[in-house]
Amino acid sequence: MDKRVLLGVTGSIAAYKACELVRLLVKEDIGVQVVMTAHATELMGPATFRSLSGNPVALDLFDDPGAPIHHIELAQSAPVFVIAPCTANVVNKLAAGVADDLLTTTALAFTGRLILAPAANTQMYLDVATQESIRALQARGVTVLTADNGELACGDVGPGRLPDPRVIADEARRALRSSEALAGRHVVITAGPTREDFDPVRFVSNHSTGRMGYALARAALQMGATVTLISGPVSLPAPVDARLEFVGVTSAREMSAAVLQAAATADIVLAAAAVADFRPRITSEVKLKKYALSELSELREGETVITVELVQNPDIVTQLSEARAAGALKRDLVLVGFAAETNDVDSNAREKLASKGLDFIVANDVSRADIGFGAAENEVLVISPEGDTPIAKASKFEVAWQLLELITQATNAS
Ligand code: CTP
Repeated sequence: MDKRVLLGVTGSIAAYKACELVRLLVKEDIGVQVVMTAHATELMGPATFRSLSGNPVALDLFDDPGAPIHHIELAQSAPVFVIAPCTANVVNKLAAGVADDLLTTTALAFTGRLILAPAANTQMYLDVATQESIRALQARGVTVLTADNGELACGDVGPGRLPDPRVIADEARRALRSSEALAGRHVVITAGPTREDFDPVRFVSNHSTGRMGYALARAALQMGATVTLISGPVSLPAPVDARLEFVGVTSAREMSAAVLQAAATADIVLAAAAVADFRPRITSEVKLKKYALSELSELREGETVITVELVQNPDIVTQLSEARAAGALKRDLVLVGFAAETNDVDSNAREKLASKGLDFIVANDVSRADIGFGAAENEVLVISPEGDTPIAKASKFEVAWQLLELITQATNAS
């Protein structure tokens, strides 16, 4: 395991608590490289962090004559980057991609697990700009811990206190443990809806936004995997990473072809896509006119009713489990399905686990507005023949990370 953590310290009164964090990490033989902003050095002397970490503290973009591109070297030096305390200013800068000093430049160049432990005055923490930045960062795969509630340096009482250093150290340790959990593994992920055309203008589809699948792709990359993300039409940016292959598809049949091709080398398939179960039997090359359609219509109870024929799409995960059983895929390929249900969530999911030949199914209740389609958060029950594990409500990225931890632990153990 690569036991190195980059620790960013920014200009908050809580900067002194970062000393305790360094101590906790060093005690466990975790190498700590501290990066400080200029404001942080007004509050704490770099010498303190140098003594505690045993490493020189990085302060300036141009302060290391041995490494001409200091921020890139720093960004590649550890799999986990913790910024604690992270001021509201730095939270907002990171969300905007601002890179105007060594710490923010290193963060922008960093591709591993970034963990922010905010500390700010309550108003600054709760300000819409800061909260929007936190949500944007979380959606991009950054872990932002929740600030503690209590008395602040300015005398105010409310949320904004730096989380306990022990909580931050736990999070860093967990991140380190999993940072190579999927190294050398090929993970195939389906995401988003599929779209089944009637004609060039109209289609059948569903409410999936792809957020869960994209969160899984980011988490798998951060755990060292090579990822193929096969996505239906969504409005999310695909992660940019040399280990990611992005395949954009529209229909279920296109998705099926792409998945079957990618699955040949896969170790894990995560089927988060909401595949349209049916497609129009006939797709017109030209836009269908209402008057032409109305020839097929009938008047029923005062309304014009038109009947269209739909045919069933392939069930992609069932195709995969059958191919695995036939020996066409890796024998130990792990197949993970998702069950988005509005009612009888558990029993419907269990039924799908069995009927589709899956190893795990991730059940979630899409009737709830706070965790359903398009929501930033999720809360799921992971069901496998070995038992059930709930994952508490958290950002989709956190849920993705915990799900991958669970799958890797369960499959490595077996
Ligand atoms: N799935 C699939 N191919 C399909 C339909 C679904 O691979 N044609 C996968 C989904 O990606 C998901 C799992 O099967 O991982 C369950 O999807 P869901 O839509 O809940 O299942 P359905 O079989 O379509 O069941 P329902 O009757 O509830 O629509």
